Amino acid sequence: MDPRVLEAMLPYFGAKFGNAASRNHAFGWEAEQAVEKAREQIAKLIGATAKEIIFTSGATESNNLAIKGIAEMYKERGNHIITQATEHKAVLDTCKKLEKQGYRVTYLPPQADGLISLDELKDAIVTEGPNKTILVTIMYANNEIGVIQPIAEIGKICHEKGILFHTDAVQAVGKIPVDVQKDNIDILSLSGTRSTARRASAPSTFAAATPASRSPSRSTAEATSVVCAPAPSTSPASSDSAQPVRSA
Ligand SMILES: Cc1ncc(COP(=O)(O)O)c(C=O)c1O
Repeated sequence: MDPRVLEAMLPYFGAKFGNAASRNHAFGWEAEQAVEKAREQIAKLIGATAKEIIFTSGATESNNLAIKGIAEMYKERGNHIITQATEHKAVLDTCKKLEKQGYRVTYLPPQADGLISLDELKDAIVTEGPNKTILVTIMYANNEIGVIQPIAEIGKICHEKGILFHTDAVQAVGKIPVDVQKDNIDILSLSGTRSTARRASAPSTFAAATPASRSPSRSTAEATSVVCAPAPSTSPASSDSAQPVRSA
């Protein structure tokens, strides 16, 4: 663990044990303050706003929440999702589950360099009829081979077509600059445990999303994926673990 993380978290292993969701006592208020501070730090790290951050139990849950949430929310609009064959299992399993429910999923193959082809992405997008593409989910940096996808370009293509863009940025945030606005990202999943925060400890991971207003594709969206409320179970310890993430 990064020593800065340990220092920030130590109080929450002992004296500061309140539940951030408890509104009727001072221990809870103190914990809530820590969570809100973390929310701001995480938002700053990725160019989002604090109210756009949602805490989850881990990146698998974050990816599930983002992909299944969009699929459910926009099922009247279309049933097609585009991802790539080399995504993390957290994304692939979620897509497989959605296929069983009737969604169509295109798995773009990697090219020899591990990157997806932007032309193949454009060709895969469906803009007419009942099978319209509602979501593109492409990971930022690959967890096995380390390639970094051209995220800003992918996001631009999506927004030109009015499609939401989610990225699993678990292996990117805290290691390379990530900015949801510059990178044209609508929803992003990230993980404290992969960004120098706590290891082997569940609640140190979170998801983030940008508001509907940020992308043209969502200006018409009735329900924004403003996935930005804390999970009630989020502990203050997990929140402060975000501080070194920001400065990493
Ligand atoms: C790219 C990527 N996505 C998702 C995950 C799943 O993360 P978690 O174990 O927090 O659910 C990992 C884990 O290493 C990962 O590398």
